[in-house]
Amino acid sequence: MSLVIALDGPSGSGKSTVGRHLARVHGLGYLDTGAMFRAAAWYCHHRGIDLDDAAAVVDAVATLPLELDLDPDATGVVVDGVDVTAAIRTTEVTTHVSRVATNLGVRAELKASQRAIIAREGTPQGWSEGRGIVAEGRDITTVIAPDADVRILLVARAEARLARRALELHGSADDGALEATRDQIERRDADDSTVSQFLAAADGVVTLDSSHLSLAETLAAAERIVAEQR
Ligand code: C5P
Repeated sequence: MSLVIALDGPSGSGKSTVGRHLARVHGLGYLDTGAMFRAAAWYCHHRGIDLDDAAAVVDAVATLPLELDLDPDATGVVVDGVDVTAAIRTTEVTTHVSRVATNLGVRAELKASQRAIIAREGTPQGWSEGRGIVAEGRDITTVIAPDADVRILLVARAEARLARRALELHGSADDGALEATRDQIERRDADDSTVSQFLAAADGVVTLDSSHLSLAETLAAAERIVAEQR
């Protein structure tokens, strides 16, 4: 049977690291749904679409020319023939992505593509089996793949998440770097939580709190959850 793992959590919780690790260990594809919302935000900006024009944004996303690499070691993102792998991680996209992601029409469009990818990768096909997939985001355990074999909510104390993001973005977790990151993380989590429920685990979803765990301990704990739940 091919394995489908759903993984949610707030920004800086370590979802991508855990998700990629589980995909490698189990030979699964890896779908970063945040990258899809980021690509949508980049595309709207690229086409000069006003993010407050909800209908125009939905129209653009409905025909989003997006190519995603599902290999956990080669997570390239191409939009309209342009390699946007780095561009979708800039502060500008990070600042505006929630405006696109809280547009319910956009969520409906991306939900359909995410479900299609998960169904394709997670379903036995003909003689061969789909390889299975890890899908990570904010609403995978609840809306996109509530029937996944394994559902995990990865959480961490706000201070731990802040320190990780500051290190990632500014190469330091000193006071200046923490303050520069705090606003961005807090606002984004507050905006995102108006449309998806990722701050508390839904029924049947296992919570993994990495606040006091090292990276190696977090990965080992995630592996144990998969072994127990699958
Ligand atoms: O996970 P990441 O920080 O890359 O996600 C970027 C943004 O995409 C989030 O801030 C959120 O607005 C949106 N998102 C979402 N639902 C998901 C995944 C991401 O709304 N399943």
